[in-house]
Amino acid sequence: MDVLVVGGAGYIGSHAVTQLIDKGYEVTVVDNLLTGHREAVHPEANFVLADIRDKEVLSQVFEARNFVCVFHFAASSLVGESVEQPLKYFDNNVTGMISLLEVMVDHGVNKIIFSSTAAVYGDVDIPMINEDLPTNPVNPYGLSKRMMEQIMEWCQEAYGMNYISLRYFNVAGALEGGNIGEDHHPETHLIPIILQVANNQREYVTIFGDDYHTPDGTCIRDYIHVVDLIDAHIKAYEYLNDGGQSQVFNLGSSQGFSVKEIVEACRQVTDCCIPAQIGERREGDPAKLVASSDKAREILGWQPQYDDIKKIIASAWAWHQTRPEGYGEE
Ligand code: UFG
Repeated sequence: MDVLVVGGAGYIGSHAVTQLIDKGYEVTVVDNLLTGHREAVHPEANFVLADIRDKEVLSQVFEARNFVCVFHFAASSLVGESVEQPLKYFDNNVTGMISLLEVMVDHGVNKIIFSSTAAVYGDVDIPMINEDLPTNPVNPYGLSKRMMEQIMEWCQEAYGMNYISLRYFNVAGALEGGNIGEDHHPETHLIPIILQVANNQREYVTIFGDDYHTPDGTCIRDYIHVVDLIDAHIKAYEYLNDGGQSQVFNLGSSQGFSVKEIVEACRQVTDCCIPAQIGERREGDPAKLVASSDKAREILGWQPQYDDIKKIIASAWAWHQTRPEGYGEE
């Protein structure tokens, strides 16, 4: 079972590589290491340093192997950055997807598991988002991912490209006892930032706005453990392999936590006071994103193991304490 993981050196991709290898898959990773880390890639994976927009190199990788499926994690993924640099997002994400699909079609590889995002839904004021909700992205990142989904839909029609698009909510945590975790430069995600404060690497966390239409005025998000998230990817591949239909699934915990609640949960897990200050809103941030993941549970038979936000934070905290400077090789 030979699979390709594009973006396999990143936070989420490296967890996918490790979990796929643990399940007996033969894994090849293609990553340009712009945000990923070579050290994060499992030593048993074949590693190719390349950008997926480079069709020539990508074709050589496909020629050398007999892939049954591609797992796609090679995209830029920061909401705030995408508002400032939209062209970077359309180029890296959308152009990258077109290049990858062209090479897949050329080599007769017809299954792709795609990491999409809750950001495709936009700013929606409903208690829980299910997959039937019309998409309406409010930032270039969300739009680029929606465009990538639409491209796959048309490739399904035209070339029989089978896809599962997994719309992630907020991914957090790290493989327990593993030596991989979240390490972005600069770090922009809430939980790692708060844990850096607990680790004395920052003085305080800034809460981006407390005037949202939510009970405590701060944004609400749905946090899912990275190991549960990857488990859903592997189940998605198995589903396609058993003849399942191309479609989208939300992946979240179905529980919402405000920024203030996450700060408080981190204080309890780390036993540190973690100073917080209220700042301006960050552009492009919807007030609330909480998933209904019933569809993934019903159709893929997905059963997330982490249902307690403190356990998710504790696994991230273990990584940050072991590797306060992250991978540190760059
Ligand atoms: N936040 C702060 N202070 C910080 C960092 C974040 O208050 O220093 C807030 C944000 O404003 C937001 C929440 O914490 O309300 C979560 O922010 P993150 O940056 O951790 O995550 P996002 O919700 O912006 O985005 C993440 C992924 C996206 C994905 C989205 C889906 O980065 O790829 O979750 O919900 F689309």
